Amino acid sequence: MTRQYLQRAEKITRRINELAQVSEDKTCVTRTFGTDAFISGTKKVLSWMNLAGLETRVDNIGNVRGILRSKKAGAKTLVIASHIDTVVNAGKFDGPLGVIMGLDAIENIIENEIELPYHIELIAFSDEEGVRFHTTYLGSRVLAGSFPDSLLQMKDAAGITLKQVIEDMGHKPEKLASDVLPAEEWLGYFEVHIEQGPVLYEKKIPVAIVQTIAGQQRAEVVFKGEAGHAGTVPMDMRSDALCCASEFIIEMEKFAKANKANVVATVGKLNITGAASNVIPGKVTCSIDLRCTNEQILTNATQSIKRICSEVCSRRKIPFEWRPIQGMSPVICDQKMNFMLKRAVVEAGCQVVELVSGAGHDAVPISKVAPVSMLFVRCYKGISHNPLENVELDDIATAAMVCDNFLQQLSIH
Ligand code: HGY
Ligand code: MN
Ligand code: MN
Repeated sequence: MTRQYLQRAEKITRRINELAQVSEDKTCVTRTFGTDAFISGTKKVLSWMNLAGLETRVDNIGNVRGILRSKKAGAKTLVIASHIDTVVNAGKFDGPLGVIMGLDAIENIIENEIELPYHIELIAFSDEEGVRFHTTYLGSRVLAGSFPDSLLQMKDAAGITLKQVIEDMGHKPEKLASDVLPAEEWLGYFEVHIEQGPVLYEKKIPVAIVQTIAGQQRAEVVFKGEAGHAGTVPMDMRSDALCCASEFIIEMEKFAKANKANVVATVGKLNITGAASNVIPGKVTCSIDLRCTNEQILTNATQSIKRICSEVCSRRKIPFEWRPIQGMSPVICDQKMNFMLKRAVVEAGCQVVELVSGAGHDAVPISKVAPVSMLFVRCYKGISHNPLENVELDDIATAAMVCDNFLQQLSIH
């Protein structure tokens, strides 16, 4: 690995560490949509884009956007992007790696006065994780023109609407449509992201090309039992919503393990309304997150898990409400762009490995309007959504080289 790429990797790592300091919680990395920490993070990324000399703006959903214009008449736009919002107690690389690597690639283009036949728009998406409003891809859906205004009425845990948060950030919800990149202007979409899985780490390979991105079904289930006194209600006279939810969650896990070749199922959030140690839980709400790379299997699995829920609840005589939150179909990355990405990987001296992404990415909504491609970068033991998330300097340098090669490939094809 040349000294020059290692120096670029050091600069990328410095910026990732700097951005990681911007958090709602000083003890960990948490930067969720619309918070003061999120806004500080967008300002930091904006300052880097301005330093690079890009044409910058923050759009009405809080995406930070910087354009490097081509001199070619009628040039189309390559969007290089990822997200800068995080989960709670996050790692430093999930999202920021793709934005900061994109900026590095553009800085290299500018410094070497490379003329490209396409514009590059670098975007730091504002809400990919969906932590605050439990709906993902807010920033990329605005860019793709698939943001339904009905989402503006979504409320966070404090009852604040998305519309209010956008206005509090000084943006105009009624202007979101003006932030769309029209379909005819797209050349394509490119995102660099950590693998968030163990394959590259196990195989000792620095990068991979993403073939498919799994589809998702997100929902929440409300179990409507009956609150009661923990000391006086006999065990066989209870409608304990938490025991009901717990039995359902275990049955769902059994189902997913029996179908583990295709499906993953997770309950990441569980809320007991009016929780107290001496009260029998009356109302319990849990989140459901199902993933699969095959649309039909995902639909069938969702139906099966709903049936499991119904069986457990009818046996326990506890009604439930299944509230669909979001469904996203699996995405197949663009063959032509991936062909160029493979060449870029080979030119960097790496073995070509193609992977499926179990994680969702902003490429998902973008794939409706443009060809998408993604480069995965090895991360420590595949750990992500966890402060132990880490990427080695050498792998960042390798990925930077692949990005340079890819931008060149795009300019000659
Ligand atoms: O949930 C996901 O797949 C991604 O990390 N947003
Ligand atoms: Mn991510
Ligand atoms: Mn993530």
